[in-house]
Amino acid sequence: MGKRYYIETMGCQMNEYDSDHLSRILEDSGYLRASEPDKADFVLVNTCSVRAKAEQKALSRLGRLASLKRKNPGFLLGVAGCVAQQRGSDLFERFPGLDLVLGPREIGNFREILRRAENGGTRLAAVNAHTRPASFMGRFDYFQNSIKAYITIIEGCNNFCSYCIVPYVRGRETSRPPHEILDEARNLSLQGVKEITLLGQNVNSYVYGDTRFPGLLQAMNEIKSLRRIRFTTSHPKDLSPELIECFAHLEKLCSHIHLPFQAGSNRVLKAMKRGYTCETYMERIHELRQARPGIAVTSDVMVGFPGETEQDFELTLDLMQKIEFDNLFSFKYSDRAGTQAARMQGKIPEKEKLARLSRLQELQRGITLQKNRELIGKNVEVLVEGASKKGHAFTGRTNTNKVVNFQCDDSPKDTLVNVKVKRASFNSLWGELTSIRS
Ligand code: 5AD
Ligand code: SF4
Repeated sequence: MGKRYYIETMGCQMNEYDSDHLSRILEDSGYLRASEPDKADFVLVNTCSVRAKAEQKALSRLGRLASLKRKNPGFLLGVAGCVAQQRGSDLFERFPGLDLVLGPREIGNFREILRRAENGGTRLAAVNAHTRPASFMGRFDYFQNSIKAYITIIEGCNNFCSYCIVPYVRGRETSRPPHEILDEARNLSLQGVKEITLLGQNVNSYVYGDTRFPGLLQAMNEIKSLRRIRFTTSHPKDLSPELIECFAHLEKLCSHIHLPFQAGSNRVLKAMKRGYTCETYMERIHELRQARPGIAVTSDVMVGFPGETEQDFELTLDLMQKIEFDNLFSFKYSDRAGTQAARMQGKIPEKEKLARLSRLQELQRGITLQKNRELIGKNVEVLVEGASKKGHAFTGRTNTNKVVNFQCDDSPKDTLVNVKVKRASFNSLWGELTSIRS
């Protein structure tokens, strides 16, 4: 029987993209996908370390998987992603069952490392954070989803926000050549992919030779069979007028931007080293809403940054009320070893962070619900992804990235349809199909 592999992916979409690439290498090397880790000869955990909780989850998962070695001595266990990069070969001390450690910039060397592991090599660590991202040229098939795909266009981050581990584990910003990205996008669209999300920790800093991010979006917009383009994550300080203009002119660019603001107090933003003020953030949102009326804005925010006072926190709530985000990802600040913030005074007690987080989430619940309810009675365009979890309904997302479930007798998977919204909850919309567009 052929060898089987299982990849468990934690964290962000960039990890999902990397896992997809790793899967392809494994399948090219003769492995078949296993339905669960117990049935696999090789298990790889692609980890995230952006917050303390994610890292703890990755480590406890590795602990459990390492025990599979007792049942199957030929079993190989690997760890990839940010925890792999950050802890490197120290992980071998903690998990004696671990065979290989692969940093995010080392995916291009995975084939070789896998071969060494299969030939009895153990404790193989590849964690250079400064190599160029692997070239994904020649990827003609895509495993994640047939209709939506991701493409990483820039790796790393140069910003060193004071709380953030990313620049340490993902290295400096390195953009991929535009022809490579566009070839990959064309290949994906030929296979039936209709929506592509361009990825990067700081996607709008993309630059390669003369090509900047707006130029790349323009070229993506010209790919014939592609219907939707998204990108994430953007940094407010790099949101250029040219990029804002793209929302006015590029019809395939979806009406959604994820633009983390992190805090509503200028004092805290300065301590975070974010490089913008609340006022400039609000100006950018205003410009975006003028360029593309109805654009959905989502964001990331943190509570309990060292030294955050009750007043600072209330400024965050104020900003949320002024902007009315469509949705918000909110986190309690956690220390990441090696960052500037980890060494700051004025740490906020866990109980206080939790209290602030629930106040903030309560406020956002109301805003999101209100925004979703405003869509009742309206027609929205939905890219159908498949059957919904509940009942005989289908599910997809609007151009503004909201989940819509709807009833339909046909099987409209992988098409764009129009749906009239009938009900709205915090998480999703419910509607009726009115017409099929393609
Ligand atoms: N503690 C809590 N949240 C963090 N994030 C990044 N670093 C930390 C940290 N040390 C959050 C930010 C970022 C998101 C991906 O994770 O809000 O935008
Ligand atoms: Fe981290 Fe700041 Fe870079 Fe985002 S911009 S990845 S928060 S350092």
